[in-house]
Amino acid sequence: MSKKILILPGDGIGPEIVAEAVKLIERLRADFGLNVELEHGLIGGSAYDAKRHPLPEDTLRLAQAADAVLLGAVGGHKWESLPIALRPEKGLLGLRAGLTLFSNLRPAILYPQLAAASTLKSEIVAGLDIMIVRELTGGIYFGQPRGIRTLDNGERQGFNTLVYSESEIERIGRSAFNIAMKRNKRLCSVDKANVLECTELWREIMTGLAKDYPEVELTHMYVDNAAMQLVRAPKQFDVMVTTNMFGDILSDCAAMLTGSIGMLPSASLDAKGKGMYEPIHGSAPDIAGKGIANPLATILSVAMMLRYTLNEQALAQRVERAVNKVLDQGLRTADIHTAGCEKVGTARIGDAVCAAL
Ligand code: IPM
Ligand code: MG
Repeated sequence: MSKKILILPGDGIGPEIVAEAVKLIERLRADFGLNVELEHGLIGGSAYDAKRHPLPEDTLRLAQAADAVLLGAVGGHKWESLPIALRPEKGLLGLRAGLTLFSNLRPAILYPQLAAASTLKSEIVAGLDIMIVRELTGGIYFGQPRGIRTLDNGERQGFNTLVYSESEIERIGRSAFNIAMKRNKRLCSVDKANVLECTELWREIMTGLAKDYPEVELTHMYVDNAAMQLVRAPKQFDVMVTTNMFGDILSDCAAMLTGSIGMLPSASLDAKGKGMYEPIHGSAPDIAGKGIANPLATILSVAMMLRYTLNEQALAQRVERAVNKVLDQGLRTADIHTAGCEKVGTARIGDAVCAAL
């Protein structure tokens, strides 16, 4: 039976990069027997413009019925003055919560061809291969109460709540331990247990889980130190597991080690392996519509979709090898361009990946 993929291009460069990923999926269908059906929907600011809501009901319904979702990016200056509940980002957060996509996998892999594009010395980053497992449906992003209130003295006060239940910590913990088992069996749990009770509980639960995974070496690190270690000696990490907000921050930091955030895909999975796949970069409104954005993070997100939801390991590898070939050919978008390489646009990279399959 064919699997359903919902395509949500979103805002900014979203439509341009997703078009290249769709081109790739069509090619996999035509030439490699991939059995999928594509559907299309609106999300983010473009959904707000058309339907007055960043996550229209029919988009959520289509996403719930689909086997996988491929998303471009959401957000842009145009919608920044909307009330927070109607901002494009709420569309994305609503999908994550509405589909219970609690486990967010953000690999940071350095392609050897791009070592010179990293701002760090190449010996520090050569061979880098980290997996950040970010909790995605809890923590301070979703905690109640939240808001901006006016105190008795007339001053306004903003507040958010960092909250994790034991079961939420346990399920993201198991997800991370299972991933560590398939890799180098080293897991670093990142928290702020010296200050925040919530992450004191986080550390306690992670420590308890370790008994079920005796082969995995579990370590703990405070988030400030983890940020420092990521730029000091990133290769000490194999798998990192952390809260929603710490994961948001550390994954951008890890991305830059690899040369460009334009290279990094992500998978957001529920308990059954259904997933939403998206590049970790944003909508980049400053370069939208120019045809110069890097589509490789989205293309590599398709590879993750093949691997984690569609169970097409061989095709996933084929896509990743094709990306490698294109980098070998010296084709680069502006974000990863270095001397001696050919600077090309979005569509040219997409075509080259299809040709290299
Ligand atoms: C990410 C993004 C989102 C997040 C924004 C767009 C809501 O930064 O996926 O990392 O903060 O989770
Ligand atoms: Mg982020």
